[in-house]
Amino acid sequence: MQIKTLLLLATAGLVSAQKFFDENGAYYGPDCDNPNHSGAYYTGDYTSPFKTYLGKTDAEIQGKLDQLWNHYFKGDNNSKVFYDRGNEGYILDVNNNDVRSEGMSYGMMIAVQTNHKEEFDKLWNWAKNHMWHKGGGWDGYFAWQRNTSGNGGDDNCAPDGEMYFMMSLLFAANRWNNKQYMDDAQYIIKRMWDNPQHKLFNQQNNIITFQPQGTGNNFSDPSYDLPAFVDLISRWSTTNQNRWKSAAQATRDHLYKSSNTRSGLFSDYNNFDGTPHSESYNQNASKYMYDAMRCAMNFGMDYYLFGSDAKRETEMAKRIIDFFEKDGYKHARFNWDGSGASEQYTQGETGANAVACFALMGTQGYESIIKKNLQMAWDVKPMTGQYRYYDGLVHYLAMLHLLGSFKIWKPAPKVQEKTLTSPVYNGITYQNGDKIDIFEDCKVYKATFQISGNGSGNGSGSGNQNPGNPNTGKTGKCYPAIMAQGYPCCSANCQVVYTDADGEWGVENGDWCGCGGAAECVGAQGFPCCESSTIVYYTDGDGDWSVENNDWCIIRN
Ligand SMILES: *[C@@H]1O[C@H](CO)[C@@H](O)[C@H](O)[C@H]1NC(C)=O
Ligand SMILES: *[C@@H]1O[C@H](CO)[C@@H](O)[C@H](O)[C@H]1NC(C)=O
Ligand SMILES: *[C@@H]1O[C@H](CO)[C@@H](O)[C@H](O)[C@H]1NC(C)=O
Ligand SMILES: *[C@@H]1O[C@H](CO)[C@@H](O)[C@H](O)[C@H]1NC(C)=O
Ligand SMILES: *[C@@H]1O[C@H](CO)[C@@H](O)[C@H](O)[C@H]1NC(C)=O
Ligand SMILES: *[C@@H]1O[C@H](CO)[C@@H](O)[C@H](O)[C@H]1NC(C)=O
Ligand SMILES: *[C@@H]1O[C@H](CO)[C@@H](O)[C@H](O)[C@H]1NC(C)=O
Repeated sequence: MQIKTLLLLATAGLVSAQKFFDENGAYYGPDCDNPNHSGAYYTGDYTSPFKTYLGKTDAEIQGKLDQLWNHYFKGDNNSKVFYDRGNEGYILDVNNNDVRSEGMSYGMMIAVQTNHKEEFDKLWNWAKNHMWHKGGGWDGYFAWQRNTSGNGGDDNCAPDGEMYFMMSLLFAANRWNNKQYMDDAQYIIKRMWDNPQHKLFNQQNNIITFQPQGTGNNFSDPSYDLPAFVDLISRWSTTNQNRWKSAAQATRDHLYKSSNTRSGLFSDYNNFDGTPHSESYNQNASKYMYDAMRCAMNFGMDYYLFGSDAKRETEMAKRIIDFFEKDGYKHARFNWDGSGASEQYTQGETGANAVACFALMGTQGYESIIKKNLQMAWDVKPMTGQYRYYDGLVHYLAMLHLLGSFKIWKPAPKVQEKTLTSPVYNGITYQNGDKIDIFEDCKVYKATFQISGNGSGNGSGSGNQNPGNPNTGKTGKCYPAIMAQGYPCCSANCQVVYTDADGEWGVENGDWCGCGGAAECVGAQGFPCCESSTIVYYTDGDGDWSVENNDWCIIRN
């Protein structure tokens, strides 16, 4: 499927060399985890549908990213939502003249995905200093509302903020190799289940709550269901991993149940069985209003990032896009069943529904509908004025997905060098000297083309004689700098989840441990020490070599 796409792109002349790293070496490529799903998490392929469906060039895509950033973060007083305050900065809800955990965490997600560390730091400083509860009944959570001076508002939390805070911090930790961000993220992640007073997810069914207190704990808001985020947190959390795994499944199930089987619409608030929920303080809670529009983005991103719930998500996408086709993309608000249309289709809906179209790609009969939705999302101008905060930012987040700029930033992998002597890779023809990133047999390579038959290469085959260095199969020894901080070494076969100046870290029994790095047997040439094998296959200056897990290892003395 990936190869087919690439061939199609190659004939259109739109393909760029396969890359799994950004310009600073941060990694978003595949890993060894379940290769059966088509999602970008597994393939590392974030090709923008604006390219494949609308023929937009890399330059046009970058231009769109710049336009959005310059408008919402650097624009004039009628355009921007980011307000720089020295070491801090906040996102203003212009209409309400306050600052919300929702907007702050959206701002951080946008900043990390577009590689703006300075603004990310300022936003996180503001959120930490004025919103983050450390200790007390709300320990780990964020006040959902403050005024622009960082005071007042409401101490209670609105869980979509926590979800985006956690996810953006995890991405920032990986993208910028920052242990403080990882520690901050893990602090929140742990409190979500362990806070004695307020559980962000309902304890009986593992579904996110509308608010983790009082009766708010007894119903949900399906626009807080972010299955791709919960799936990632379940992989990267150092605590409660099994609960997070259950929550990933429960979140996908709940989002599916929340989609009305006829209209495909979602309600703003709902019960854990997916039916709309009414509240006396919000007359429109049981309708498709402001919150609910985001659901289309939530399952659309899960489809292209993971693809593990593809069948149901395609069904959901068909329903809601068919519904808006019939409406002619005219209206914004409806009852759950699609009756009672009112107000004008919004910019946020334009973005979110285009993201839902990811789940229709490849489905017969939808090509022109996908193009129409993509074109609408592309064409709208960044918003100015009173209402630019919410609809503008939902559209901006949607555009990151559609522009191929919402990536899963992963911990740094081990990288090998490799020479490719055949000019064709994955259906694309390369030139001598071209460099691409490749993933083969669970290993990441920086590959250079040295095409033979030219007299200059020496025809040394695929350059694959040396097995690469695996990410797993570690020795059970670890870096002295990690042990010196009082952390244990992980067991053999640990998985590296984080790398910093001290070495490589894994997680076991809910705590950090050193993963690999060999305090005693140091391996050689990037290969590990053997666990148990003593059969000598080869001897050189480094010692005696054997093979384990299909890979070279050096035998301990
Ligand atoms: C992938 O699918 C094949 C065939 O259905 C199955 O045998 C294999 O176990 C799957 N691999 C994983 C990692 O799920
Ligand atoms: C924007 O607003 C700030 C503070 O409200 C004010 O100081 C500044 O002069 C305004 N800039 C423009 C161009 O209106
Ligand atoms: C913010 O809230 C605090 C405490 O309620 C209040 O003293 C202050 O005047 C408010 N500032 C603004 C700008 O609203
Ligand atoms: C929770 O919701 C269910 C179903 O809506 C209801 O039967 C139950 O009484 C509620 N419990 C509390 C504590 O509000
Ligand atoms: C409820 O929805 C109706 C119809 O869209 C709208 O006119 C009204 O302003 C909404 N009320 C609130 C409190 O949002
Ligand atoms: C052959 O090698 C030369 C010198 O390294 C290089 O300039 C040329 O581009 C190569 N030609 C091909 C077809 O790879
Ligand atoms: C062929 O490549 C090997 C490994 O890079 C190198 O050591 C050797 O000198 C090369 N031989 C020729 C004839 O270029």
